[in-house]
Amino acid sequence: MKAAYITQTGPAENIQYGELPTPEPNGSQVLVRVKAVAVNPLDTYLRAGAVKMDLPMPFIVGCDLAGVVERSGPQAGRYPPGTRVWGSNQGLLGRQGTFAEFAAVEERWLYPAPDGVRDEEAAAVALVGITAHIGLVRCAHLAAGETLFVNGGTGGVGSTVVQMAKAIGAKVITTAGSPEKVATARALGADVAINYKTDDVDAAIKQFAPGGVSVWWETLREPNFERTVPLLAPRGRMILMAGREARPVFPVGPFYTKDCSLHGFAMFNARPEEQQVSATDINRWLAEGKLKPRIDRVLPLAKAAEAHKLQEENTLHKAGTLAGKIVLVP
Ligand SMILES: NC(=O)c1ccc[n+]([C@@H]2O[C@H](COP(=O)([O-])OP(=O)(O)OC[C@H]3O[C@@H](n4cnc5c(N)ncnc54)[C@H](OP(=O)(O)O)[C@@H]3O)[C@@H](O)[C@H]2O)c1
Repeated sequence: MKAAYITQTGPAENIQYGELPTPEPNGSQVLVRVKAVAVNPLDTYLRAGAVKMDLPMPFIVGCDLAGVVERSGPQAGRYPPGTRVWGSNQGLLGRQGTFAEFAAVEERWLYPAPDGVRDEEAAAVALVGITAHIGLVRCAHLAAGETLFVNGGTGGVGSTVVQMAKAIGAKVITTAGSPEKVATARALGADVAINYKTDDVDAAIKQFAPGGVSVWWETLREPNFERTVPLLAPRGRMILMAGREARPVFPVGPFYTKDCSLHGFAMFNARPEEQQVSATDINRWLAEGKLKPRIDRVLPLAKAAEAHKLQEENTLHKAGTLAGKIVLVP
């Protein structure tokens, strides 16, 4: 099969595109004929060696996939051949990745793709969808009528948080880095979207939620708590999920005296049963049209190295040239 893989960690150029043996589904794995995959910042950290995990070499990059079950391993029975599925959590913790024509995946990490949802969309929503759900539902217990702020309302995570928070019934304020992206964030459902490069974001948040926001979702890798804690409501919840190197000052007094709480998580730590709960809601919202994965562009799988470079330029170097997910098709 054709696959995008590395034989050693390093820059995006280390990704080769060529022939590797098609895997055999063992135990409760199924063999998925991959129709679409999506790039996540985490894929680039793993490929670069910046995040250390066991990588079976040659290592096929990628966490997310959507496709069709080709055949099942001896203990698999959930998805008969021909079932359209999507999933994430591959290419992690010693597992092989998804950027190939076929992937052998434990069936507990797969979910049925709703009718009417394209493979590109199902792949694009996978990791960011589960991330947004864990943060909003498991960590923040976001409720209808509450207010939420998220940075980067057209980013991979941000665009998903905006739509899910609206599906839950919250009021959403978000930011973006250009007038076009501000318009996109509004089109995704944000009640208020402002340009973080030209507008006074704090003033807009105070106007939107004079008593502070119920949930602050921080997507930035360098959070500034001196700024954000005063913008939280009493009993406000703050979500942290980026910035491995960040060591910011934290204003303890203003935080605990408002009964606030701080929730950090990495989606790949969530157990299969927990991710299944997220996938069930994601599938319902996809089917209802409340969640429309934000795809920036679709590339052939052979351009995996280029896709990694583009993701890195944006997530690490803030190029601002992406608005949503990079999807690749074999
Ligand atoms: N913990 C987890 O489980 C988990 C899961 C997924 C992702 N992550 C992490 O979350 C982060 C975001 O991931 P992603 O996939 O959403 O990345 P992304 O698609 O590259 O999005 C980054 C977003 O940040 C915005 N941004 C950049 N600088 C900003 C600033 N100064 N103020 C406001 N917004 C700014 C960008 O807005 P513009 O494009 O408008 O400039 C863009 O929307 C990454 O660090 C990733 O590793 C963690």
